[in-house]
Amino acid sequence: MGYTFMVPAKIISGENVIAELGKHIEGKGKKALIVTDSFMVKFGNVAKVEDALKKAGLPYVIFDGANSEPTDKIVEAGLGVYQQEGCDFIIALGGGSPMDTAKAIGFMSTVPVGTKISAFMHKNIDMEVPYLVAIPTTAGTGSEVTKNTIISDTENNVKMLLGGPSIIPALAVVDPTFTMTAPPKVTAATGIDALCHAIEAYTSRKAQPLTDTFALSAIAKIHQNLPLCYADGKNVKARFAMSLAALEAGIAFNNASVTIVHGMSRPIGALFHIAHGVSNAILLPACMEFAIEENTERFADIARIMGVAEENTPAKAAAEAFVKEVARFCQAVGIPTLAELGVEKEDFFAQLDKMAADALESGSPQNTMRVPSKDELIEIYKKLF
Ligand SMILES: [Fe+2]
Repeated sequence: MGYTFMVPAKIISGENVIAELGKHIEGKGKKALIVTDSFMVKFGNVAKVEDALKKAGLPYVIFDGANSEPTDKIVEAGLGVYQQEGCDFIIALGGGSPMDTAKAIGFMSTVPVGTKISAFMHKNIDMEVPYLVAIPTTAGTGSEVTKNTIISDTENNVKMLLGGPSIIPALAVVDPTFTMTAPPKVTAATGIDALCHAIEAYTSRKAQPLTDTFALSAIAKIHQNLPLCYADGKNVKARFAMSLAALEAGIAFNNASVTIVHGMSRPIGALFHIAHGVSNAILLPACMEFAIEENTERFADIARIMGVAEENTPAKAAAEAFVKEVARFCQAVGIPTLAELGVEKEDFFAQLDKMAADALESGSPQNTMRVPSKDELIEIYKKLF
C-alpha cells in the first residue's frame, strides 16, 4: 500500500521574511484580497503585508471581518468584497480563523451564486481556485499547510470540517515576528493545539513514515519551546522554533489526520464557544488516557521524546508517563478547566449525547487506534468535570 503526502507548493520561513513577499507572488494575481481580523490591523501586522504589496506595486483590499470562529455568514461577507472589488487572489493573515475564512472564500468564489457552503460537507474539494497565500500570526493551527477549513454552519450549530487538495495554500509564509504580539493565553492555547496535531498524527491509523518524521520533530520542539514562549513572548528563537513546529505538526496531520481530541473538541467549541486550542487542551489528558491502551508503543515513543521515559522503560509505563506529562504540561501553561471558563456542569451534561454524535459524525475519533464508541466518548466528556 502506498502513501500520499501533500504540502504547499512553496514555504518561505525566517525572521522578517514577509518583506520578500513581492518576489514570491509575482505574476500570481492582479489584485489581492487580504483576509484578516481587526486585531491584526490594530497590532500593525496588516501594515507589514501592505508594505510588501506596495513595494511590489500590487493593489489590494482588506477584509478584516474574519474574527474568531469563522461562520458561513463571515465567508459570504468576505466573498462579497472579493467579487465587488474584482480581486483575483487571496492573502490570509492571522490565526486559524482568517486562514480558514480565506480558504472558504477561495473555493466559494468558483461556484454558482446561491450555493451553500454546507453543500461541500463530506465532499473532496478539488477545483481550480484563486492563488492563496497563508501567513500565520500564531504558532498553532498549521492551517497554512492544510487541506482543511472549519466553518460553522449557523443554521445547525455544527462546525463543518471541509477539505480537499484545492484548499491547501499555494504559498505559506512562516515569519515568527508575527507571533510576537500573541499574549501568553493565546500562545499557550495555540501551542497546545499544535501539540495535539502532532500527537494525534503520530498515533493515527493513517500515520505514515513521512508524517512520523514531522510529528516527532514538532513534539520535541513544542515540548521544549512552548513554556519559553509562554514565559517570555519576546524570545525570538523560541518563537521561531514554535512557528516551525506548528508548520511541521500541520504537515503531519494534514497527511495523517487528527484523531480523538480534535473529534471531541469541535462540538465543545461549537456549543460553548471555547477557543479551539483551549478545548483541545482540556480534552487532551482524558483522551490520551483512553487512547494509549491499544497503541502503547507509539505513545511510549512520545514519552521518550518528551524525556519522561527512558529507552528501556516498558511501553506501558512509558505511555502512562506520557499521559501524566501532558496533564502537567497543559497546567504549566495555564490552561483553565471548563468550570473556570464559566461552563455549567448541567448545561454541559445536557449536550453529552449531541456532542458525542457530532464527534463521531466528523470521522476523526475513528482514526484513533482504539476506536471509541459513542458511550465511551460520553464517559470521556463526563471526566472534564
Ligand atoms: Fe487544531
